[in-house]
Amino acid sequence: MRVVSDSEVEEIVPVREVVEAVERGYAAVTSGKAVMPVRSRMEIKEYLGDVLLMPCYVPEFNIYSLKIVTVYPKNVEKNLPTVSATVVILNPETGEALAVAEGRVLTGLRTGAATAVGVKYLARRDSRYVGIIGCGYQAKWQLLALTAVMKPEKIIVYDIVEEKAREFVNRMSSLLDCEITQSLSGEQLARVSDIIITVTTSKTPVVKREWIKPGTHISAIGAYTPEMAELDPALVANAKVVVDSREAAREEAGDIIQAVNRGLMKWDDVYAEIGEIILGWKKGREDEDEITIFKSVGLAVQDAAAAKVLLNHLKTK
Ligand SMILES: NC(=O)c1ccc[n+]([C@@H]2O[C@H](COP(=O)([O-])OP(=O)(O)OC[C@H]3O[C@@H](n4cnc5c(N)ncnc54)[C@H](O)[C@@H]3O)[C@@H](O)[C@H]2O)c1
Repeated sequence: MRVVSDSEVEEIVPVREVVEAVERGYAAVTSGKAVMPVRSRMEIKEYLGDVLLMPCYVPEFNIYSLKIVTVYPKNVEKNLPTVSATVVILNPETGEALAVAEGRVLTGLRTGAATAVGVKYLARRDSRYVGIIGCGYQAKWQLLALTAVMKPEKIIVYDIVEEKAREFVNRMSSLLDCEITQSLSGEQLARVSDIIITVTTSKTPVVKREWIKPGTHISAIGAYTPEMAELDPALVANAKVVVDSREAAREEAGDIIQAVNRGLMKWDDVYAEIGEIILGWKKGREDEDEITIFKSVGLAVQDAAAAKVLLNHLKTK
């Protein structure tokens, strides 16, 4: 069995391949060709820890993966990360463990891939300006995956902590061949962007309806509980909303839950799962002016997809 560190994952896993695998994974889930139980949560009360278990079996990848995510808020006092992730990869034919990988980079890759797949099917083809709100750990992976499917003319970044945005501009400018600038407000960014990625820990909206140009595509990544929302409920209610999973969205997608709870929309107004569009069951973008939102809360199948790519590259080493 191989033990793989985050730095090795980063070195050997090509972002573009993860984007392609995640796209296939979404289709597998929607067409019932993957087994993906709802994620389960366990508390470790003594240490105020939370453990999330995300299993998935994807026959077409010939893989069974289990991601274990731990959230330990008190780790801050010990100077340890509050969130850790480990991915266990099994051979579904024999049940033997093939690899155990640190899961931080794999999570970044598969979450970035979600945005890239959404952009492929929902953004305008002539999108030029990409805005990203939130410059934390996930932000780099969002841009690396996005630039695997399109070439933006300009990337605009904003974070509530100005210093983080400044540092992010410098770091990404050395990684991407594209103009990257800092915006001093979410509003300024939203008013000019063709594609907006929200990847913050905010509980209150960072994008308002009146800031958005017709034809904008939004990838809403950050909120994963009913109490969190990055998008103005009026914006959500008036857009074409696509989710990664309807079932998961009802439990976790605060952006939609809050719009529904305020009576601004109904669950039936959610247009599609991204898998339905990938499979050709439903159309993606239908005109140049519609505002599209891809709301992802994160599925175990994305981890299985990233794990599959990792496994392929471990074998070829
Ligand atoms: N959908 C998914 O599959 C998925 C996967 C991984 C992480 N996430 C979620 O994405 C979010 C970001 O993750 P991360 O690891 O980058 O977190 P992080 O803590 O490293 O970064 C979050 C950033 O958001 C900024 N921010 C917070 N409130 C803001 C606001 N109102 N306006 C602008 N910026 C603001 C913070 O300053 C910080 O830089 C988290 O909520 C995380 O749980 C979702």
